[in-house]
Amino acid sequence: MSDFIPPRPGLAQGYPGPGRILHATVRDLLSLFPESGFNRHLMPFRTLTRRVLVVNEPELLRQVFITRHANYEAKSQHFQHALAPLIGDSMFLNSGATWSGRREVMTRMLHPSRTAGFHPIFVRGAEELAARWSGEVDVAQGLATATALAVMRALLGPDEPWEAAERLAVSFGAYESSVFAVDFAHALGLPKRWSGWQRASAHRAAREVRDLCAGRIAASGAAPGGLFAEMRAARGPEGAPLLDAEQLVSEVAFLLLAGSETGANVLTWLLYLVAKHPPTLTRLREEYARVLGGRAPEVADLPALVFTKAVIQEGMRLFPPVPYLSRQAAAPDRIAHIPVAKGDTVLAVTWLLHRQAQLWDAPHAFRPERFLPDAPRKLPRFGYLPFSFGPRVCVGASFAMAEMMVFLAVLLQRLDVTADPSMIPVPGARLTLRPQTGMRLTVAPRS
Ligand code: HEM
Repeated sequence: MSDFIPPRPGLAQGYPGPGRILHATVRDLLSLFPESGFNRHLMPFRTLTRRVLVVNEPELLRQVFITRHANYEAKSQHFQHALAPLIGDSMFLNSGATWSGRREVMTRMLHPSRTAGFHPIFVRGAEELAARWSGEVDVAQGLATATALAVMRALLGPDEPWEAAERLAVSFGAYESSVFAVDFAHALGLPKRWSGWQRASAHRAAREVRDLCAGRIAASGAAPGGLFAEMRAARGPEGAPLLDAEQLVSEVAFLLLAGSETGANVLTWLLYLVAKHPPTLTRLREEYARVLGGRAPEVADLPALVFTKAVIQEGMRLFPPVPYLSRQAAAPDRIAHIPVAKGDTVLAVTWLLHRQAQLWDAPHAFRPERFLPDAPRKLPRFGYLPFSFGPRVCVGASFAMAEMMVFLAVLLQRLDVTADPSMIPVPGARLTLRPQTGMRLTVAPRS
């Protein structure tokens, strides 16, 4: 089978100086890393006065994320800065007892054993999306809406409307395109009171998201059976509510962001990849004909969609929606031969790790077969981390995998998707890895 090598940004050669750091902050974080970064195990550099260490080797990553998790539990100052206006003091930005109490609730809500209960939401959302698409569409936008809607319905009940999810997706997009992912004041070593500066447009978009969340919570009446009711009923050790009204809005905003921007980006790249690689599309459709015979998948069908799962895994390898995991050292440490000071930022960059030549054959090529159970080369342990790993691993991984499988099966059975040869989508990142200028594909009902 011939390889398809999707586009990627041209990377610089050397380490970033102040000019490139500024460019990366306002445009695209991927441009921070040099081309040699794909194959380096450790990359220490400075953002002006602060030290950053990129760790890009499976065993060293295991140390950071598992063995020495306690020292690297906290999200970096830059991550806090980029997300706090939107998701407040959500568990994602917390550590210690606040994080573990809220994580326990989320783990219960999104436990893999509950995924089957969400299945009808996925099927309905995928079918609604397929019915809305025709002609040339920005699939990134439609998928952002449909995946936000799936989380809204799981949280707040099945009546959540498409239009509310659409407004939310637009506001998330506006936030992402105006937010600074690096905290300048922190990078410059200025006093803490200068930290947290963001453009007015980022604050405006964050406000829109939070108001929308508060409005939907009020309108839904916390529908019984929706996950939000469980979150609201959760109690702390003293028996008092675990989350007050503002914290509930923060957690809902976070779940909507975490649960939509991620899956939507994977599906966006996947539609492009299969449009550009007919052998993969043919094999997917053979699988659908054999397992589903033209209908939407049922829960019991998912384990049989083995190639679909491999395609999704390969999509997340090439385009991990969370392209970097960012931590702050609580105490001095040493990673391999490099000393780490208290407060240093330690980064796992899945965008680099997933394309490292020592770990992957033809690292930039789209080859779903590498994820099939009978693939000749074993997957690198701790070298493939789309959902992170260790105590802070993604809580929504089962939800996300089932959702993406259903969406791909429904959309590719219903629609033909083609990419104009002149459209060359280049990935970029502030918060999530997205095509920098959307993804315009031509969609037509299958005859
Ligand atoms: C393809 C889809 C998804 C991907 C690739 C993904 C990836 C990730 C990653 C990498 C992290 C950890 C970030 C870090 O350690 O800094 C994370 C955390 C998290 N994700 Fe996901 N996610 C996806 C979908 C979802 C969905 C659908 C939900 C919920 C509906 C969700 C809920 C969460 C939560 C609650 C956390 C925080 C865990 C913690 O801090 O303890 N995710 N996700």
